Parts: sequence; C-alpha cells; structure tokens
Amino acid sequence: MPKVTIDGVTVEVEPGTTILNAARKIGGDLVPPAMCYYSKLKGSGGKCRVCLVEISKGSEANPTPMPKLQASCCTPIADGMEVKNMTSPKVQDMRKGVVEFLLINHPLDCPICDQAGECDLQNLGFNYGSQQTRYEEGRRTFDKIDIGDKIQLHMTRCILCYRCTYVADQLTDNRVHGIMNRGDASEISTYIQNAVTNEMSGNMIDVCPVGALTDKTFRFKSRVWFLKPFDAHRDCPTCSGKVTAWMFGKEIYRVTARKDAYHEVEEFICNTCRFDKKDVKDWTVEGPRKFEKDSVINQNNYVQHLDKVEIDTDPRLLTGRQEDRKAISMAGVKSYEQPLSDGQ
Ligand code: SF4
Ligand code: FES
Repeated sequence: MPKVTIDGVTVEVEPGTTILNAARKIGGDLVPPAMCYYSKLKGSGGKCRVCLVEISKGSEANPTPMPKLQASCCTPIADGMEVKNMTSPKVQDMRKGVVEFLLINHPLDCPICDQAGECDLQNLGFNYGSQQTRYEEGRRTFDKIDIGDKIQLHMTRCILCYRCTYVADQLTDNRVHGIMNRGDASEISTYIQNAVTNEMSGNMIDVCPVGALTDKTFRFKSRVWFLKPFDAHRDCPTCSGKVTAWMFGKEIYRVTARKDAYHEVEEFICNTCRFDKKDVKDWTVEGPRKFEKDSVINQNNYVQHLDKVEIDTDPRLLTGRQEDRKAISMAGVKSYEQPLSDGQ
C-alpha cells in the first residue's frame, strides 16, 4: 500500500485516499481542520479552503514539491508523498487568511448563537483569528427565515459550505432548498419560501458547521455547556434511534445525532427522534457521552464522578429555570433580536 508522511509521521493507506483522511488515520493535532468536507456526504469538500496543506514532496517517482498549497480533503495521496500541515509556516499563515475571509460577513454573535461552544468556526477563530478586521465594506445582511416549523436559517452566519444541500440531496427524496445566485450574492434559500419538511431534514442542523441552521425546538433554551450529553436509544422505525440526549437535570432539552472526533454525525437520525421525543421515558439512556477533553462542555468533568445515570436536580432550581425560560422565550426574544440583525 502507498505510504504518505504528514508532519513527519508516516502512514500506509489505500490507494486513492485523500491527504485529509490519511491524516485522520494518524489522528491528533496534525489533522487539518475541515469546514465543508464531511466524510458521510458524497461530493462534499473543496469549498472552504481551511484544509489547505503544503506538499513538500510530490511522490517517490516525482519528488518535485507542489508550487501551491493543496486542499487536503480532495487531493489523493501518492506513494512517498510528504505533506506539511502544522509544521508549515505557509499553511499557518494561509489559514489565518482563510479565517479572516470567512469572518468578513459572519457576525461575531457567539454570545447569542445556539452553536456557540460547538461551532467549528468559533474553534478556528480561537486558533487562527485576528483581533481586528481589515474589512471596510458593508456586510451582507439578511432577514432570518423559517424553513419549516422546526428549522430557522440565519443566512448571515452561513459560510456556503454546501453541506446542508448534500444532506437534502442524499438523505431526503425532494430537495427544496439550495444555493441561489453567485458571488457575493450567493445565499441558501428555499424555492419560493418552501418549507423543508422531509423526515430526515433535521440532519442539516447537525452538519452545519456554524449556527446558520438552528433547531427551533431548542433555540435560546440553554447554552450547550450547561447541558449534559447522554447516549440514548429507542426503537425507531425510520432511523437507528441512536442519539445524544442533551439533558438539564431530568429534562431533555435537545436531541442530536451522535458525533465523532471530527464533529461528524455517526448515523443520521429522523425528525421524530430529534424534535418530538423530548420525554426521558421515550429513551433508554445508556450513559454519559464522551467528548473532547478541551470541550467547553467538559467544565465539570462530570464523566469522572458519575457512576449511575441518575440526576436529582433540586426542584427549586428547575422552578428558577422555568422563570428564566419565560423571560427568554421565543416570543420575548423577538424584541431584542431585531436590532442585531441590522448590524450583522
Ligand atoms: S446553512 Fe450551514 S450547512 Fe448550509 S451551506 Fe450554510 S454553513 Fe453550510
Ligand atoms: S474542508 Fe477542504 S476545502 Fe473545505
């Protein structure tokens, strides 16, 4: 099998494997980030450029380095190829530039965005973002759009990665949304304000790397780091029924698909599991979900102390939450959301 060396570590992979997947086989910090590639979605990749790497040796047969950085998610390896990611100053510099571009139109509204805490762009911004923008033109602004009764689209946050359109193409039988127009006028939209209602459409929310597509049954209910993720399953006639249930005390606040180390869904789930099964009795709870050690959700390291899945929240706390929830319910939120959209 062909061999490739990435940041000094050599790995053998199947012919035709991309550099990104070869790096994932090694694992750790040398794996390039990916905002548009999604291993479970055919045709994804090649849009966002955050995964660019330096190929310092083309192959054993032709060792000439490649003059330009290459997208690791869609460049296949060759035997003897040598690749630099974290060890290349050029790549690190380029990634800062790409993040700056991605943030030209993306609002810095993490404090009110439901994706905060599990947003790939937030992570990238943390690692590669600069404190100031050099952009002086007007930003693109859009009204928020309801695409169906369960999903809301914030186009200002979209980075045009196309993942949600691949979900609709590959998991549902009738795609009613897509990327309209070209250049800086591009936007995700439904055709003639259609609702996205297909039974698997909720997976668009999970694959969206930013907070552009959000779950209306969860919006503004809690920051993700206040919730505890548990693996849970149920007998579902439509999907595998294997999910992550995000709990506050004994309540399920939201249900998502289970995600792997690269924030990719392990198995897509149906809308009934995601939106309609919020009662603990609907689920067999397996136990706490493992997550990255540096995740914001890891604050209290509860995995280490919890033997049994039994959470006994003081009812007085829950009363407080009810009051909070009334104060920040969706109807109440409208009044302060409006001015923000103008400046985004
Ligand atoms: S809405 Fe999300 S998933 Fe869809 S193209 Fe925009 S960023 Fe990607
Ligand atoms: S992940 Fe490779 S170009 Fe987006």
